Amino acid sequence: KQDQYILAIETSCDETAVAIVKNETELITNVVASQIESHKRFGGVVPEIASRHHIEQITITLEEALEDAGMTLDDMDAITVTEGPGLVGALLVGVNAAKSIAFAKQKPLVGVHHIAGHIYANRLEKEFEFPLLSLVVSGGHTELVLMREHGSFEIIGETRDDAAGEAYDKVARTLKLPYPGGPEIDRLAQEGEETIDFPRAWLEEASYDFSFSGLKSAVINRLHKAKQRGEYLKPEDVAASFQASVVDVLSTKAFLAAEAYGVKQIIVAGGVAANKGLRAALKEKFQDSKAELLIPPLELCTDNAAMIAAAGAVAYNQGHRAEWGLNANPGLDL
Ligand code: KG4
Ligand code: ZN
Repeated sequence: KQDQYILAIETSCDETAVAIVKNETELITNVVASQIESHKRFGGVVPEIASRHHIEQITITLEEALEDAGMTLDDMDAITVTEGPGLVGALLVGVNAAKSIAFAKQKPLVGVHHIAGHIYANRLEKEFEFPLLSLVVSGGHTELVLMREHGSFEIIGETRDDAAGEAYDKVARTLKLPYPGGPEIDRLAQEGEETIDFPRAWLEEASYDFSFSGLKSAVINRLHKAKQRGEYLKPEDVAASFQASVVDVLSTKAFLAAEAYGVKQIIVAGGVAANKGLRAALKEKFQDSKAELLIPPLELCTDNAAMIAAAGAVAYNQGHRAEWGLNANPGLDL
């Protein structure tokens, strides 16, 4: 059987990324051009700036990936691309680049869901065993996704308000930390102690849903009160206390759901999967569990195209094809 090569493009937020994956699981190249520096002074991603950077970077990133792999577009079996969710202007750059390449080279085109990509990043490390449960924790999503087979995603719990990454970024802004706030809080938390007892939103008994807006408000109110009283709170301790609450809820709910559904694997996905506290807590929680814990290496946690190629390859082999009318879909469902 001949080797199969899948090219992927990801431009849903602030990284322009191109990757090539061989035979579904072997990573050949993974190029990521980050725009973080351009957004930092605004304290968050500015959609208009993101789109412009993607336009500047897409061709260069594509050329770099092909050069790194020592391959040409003619060697690819299919072109896959993130069609959503994400920023519409940012997504459009990737979608149109993918459509242009696929049309010019007469290659099959496949649209990929960004979160399916985050989940499939894990498969570049280890083969999936079903049923599996994925804890998805990114800037826009926090959900527990049950997979009984490839390409099937059943959301058994999700956030009712803020995503975990969003809460991190908002709390970081209140602490006047630079964007993106998640890694900054994580770094501070390592040096602090849990001195403040912030709430944990367990919600109804046996609910696998999440809520982080109450916690976010509790942190902001506590900082505000301290300021009024002229009381000094160590930012390290605020970070450690906030992180303890987030990590406690995420790891506990993931564990309860994994037990309840009797899954073979628990896989972590999305930017917040890079969090040191969460990684450590999950390792401890699942130490004696029957479920095998998979956490991607750091470079595959945050946005990249390797994960889109991994998910796209499976979709392609299952027969999924996009039409030439493929459009960016900022609200795409998993
Ligand atoms: O998956 P991702 O790269 O983009 C989305 O699809 O949203 O996730 C980005 C989010 C941001 O909110 C960022 O602050 C958070 O992931 N993040 C972290 C860490 N690294 C990235 N949050 C906590 N701890 C980290 N180490
Ligand atoms: Zn993402």
